[in-house]
Amino acid sequence: MFSYILYIALALLPILLYYWKNPYFLDDLSYTISAIKVGIRLSKNRKNFQGILGRFFDDVKKHPHKKFIVFEDASYTYIQADKESNKVARALSAHVQLKPGDTAALFLGNEPHFVWMWLGLAKLGCTAALLNNNIRSKSLLHCFSCCDAKVLIVGADLRGAVEEVLPALKQQGIQVFILSEHCDVEGIQSFSDKIQQASDEPVSPQLANLNLKSPALYIYTSGTTGLPKAAVVNQERVLMASCLQSMAGVRSDDVVYIYLPLYHSAGFLMGLCGAIDQGLTVILRRKFSASNFWNDCRKHNVTVIQYIGEIMRYLCNTPKKDNDRDHKVRLAVGNGIRADTWADFLDRFGNIRICECYGATEGNVGFVNYVGKIGAIGREHFLHKKANPYALIRYDTEKEEPVRDSRGFCIEVPVGETGLFVGKISKRAPFSGYAKNKQQTEKKKLKDVFEKGDLYFNSGDLLRIDDEGFVYFQDRIGDTFRWKGENVATTEVADHLLTVDFVEEANVYGVKVPGHEGRIGMAALKLKENMDFDGKAAYQHVKNYLPSYARPRFLRIQDDMAVTGTFKQMKVTLAEEGFNPAVIKDPLYFLEDNKGYVPMTQETFNSISEGTLRL
Ligand SMILES: *[C@@H]1O[C@H](CO)[C@@H](O)[C@H](O)[C@H]1NC(C)=O
Repeated sequence: MFSYILYIALALLPILLYYWKNPYFLDDLSYTISAIKVGIRLSKNRKNFQGILGRFFDDVKKHPHKKFIVFEDASYTYIQADKESNKVARALSAHVQLKPGDTAALFLGNEPHFVWMWLGLAKLGCTAALLNNNIRSKSLLHCFSCCDAKVLIVGADLRGAVEEVLPALKQQGIQVFILSEHCDVEGIQSFSDKIQQASDEPVSPQLANLNLKSPALYIYTSGTTGLPKAAVVNQERVLMASCLQSMAGVRSDDVVYIYLPLYHSAGFLMGLCGAIDQGLTVILRRKFSASNFWNDCRKHNVTVIQYIGEIMRYLCNTPKKDNDRDHKVRLAVGNGIRADTWADFLDRFGNIRICECYGATEGNVGFVNYVGKIGAIGREHFLHKKANPYALIRYDTEKEEPVRDSRGFCIEVPVGETGLFVGKISKRAPFSGYAKNKQQTEKKKLKDVFEKGDLYFNSGDLLRIDDEGFVYFQDRIGDTFRWKGENVATTEVADHLLTVDFVEEANVYGVKVPGHEGRIGMAALKLKENMDFDGKAAYQHVKNYLPSYARPRFLRIQDDMAVTGTFKQMKVTLAEEGFNPAVIKDPLYFLEDNKGYVPMTQETFNSISEGTLRL
């Protein structure tokens, strides 16, 4: 213990000197202390691995009867969650040969069973693959098979989606369990009855062969190209991410509202694991509802909310009410709120501290805006930078690669300029890569950045850091764009468009829409010779194969597709040209809700620009 105290004192001394005249001194100091606590926790786990499950057991011991999950009309205490997950672990052991280290895939919406299943698997020492419950057919099969899972556990409401791919699963000898009491489909076994029959007696957790580097989860990201990729999230990362809430100022008496999908890292790692880290009560919701949001917060005395930028804007766009400030929410933790929405939100809903966090699921360096500076996604902190070196480097958006100097090294941008954010890959800041996808893993690594042989994680994000050390998000590069909080891989969308019978070539990109975060999908299409565009058929196709956020909202028909010197499709110019029919002479189509692709008119364009038509 003495060595820790000495370490803290030594660490604090230079900060005291460094930040003496800094208006954010106290914030910086308290962030430093939290960061040191995280370091201590990790080093304890290095000696005697307990992981996030250890945190959960601590909660159960400390306050067994405290509410853990509140969902719809039911609530579950920590001890109940412990027992439920014991039953899951026992039911799984009885029907599947799962060894510690094996993987099971969860294909579930937000519901308490998601949590019991994961805890049950964690007790068996198994890895959980968290499948996005919006994906279907080819993508679903791909996601399932790239994590080598032996078992698929499916929510009762997703039976149809699994029946579609059942023949392929059967061929691979996969056991499929559904959370219902009966199931008469051959090849799908009911699981709820098996859980009910199992004993809730404690199972001894299988942690003996695990350590901080063992995979804990697979979380799927729509990275730069092609189908979703399974980011390997190891135990260390889970522990680090679960500490983010406390670094953002969440306390153990808080009540946190989780409506973001549990299959993403925001909902699962920051939300759920963060709650376990501090032993909080979680109000879990199936999905976001703007009209119920504040009523839920009032009903359950919610004090902490999570967000993505879009959600904050939806909340600001709801009709004003007299009781807008009648709630106990004191802190909002999330990512992607725009500066104007931020100001509107505070103005409308009262004094809520907003804490922006930045980091990719598979990324190795992130930021926390612990000061609450409007518009910033984080703050530089010299200890953080020393421990996890990173840089903003000059980037050529047309060539889609970093600019290199005469010696072949990258160039750091001066303070205040926008650059590509890269994080040095090291033992302390590892990049675990993607399961069974060496090519994509390699693609995210940038070599020889500042010296021969060094290695950096390429975030794909353009950031800016001002002279006070605040970090701002500028844009995303390359083959993905973000819409409604989801990353959309342009090549995946293009692959689907290419299977439409009249499409010869497809180039997918994201375009900015006034008053919206991120970019909405647009595609330039080249039609096959002597074939006509069919708006209904195109709509049926994207509707069947793509989740709503990934469907191109605008189509542009081109006779010839522009390509770069290296035959890469030109996206930047097309994205800049946007979707204004007054400017673009090519035929333009607009995806009208529930109708299909209809010719884009100036009226539609004006309504979108003025914000009367919301996308
Ligand atoms: C919320 O807080 C109020 C007053 O502090 C209390 O009366 C009420 O029981 C609380 N509700 C819940 C669901 O905890």
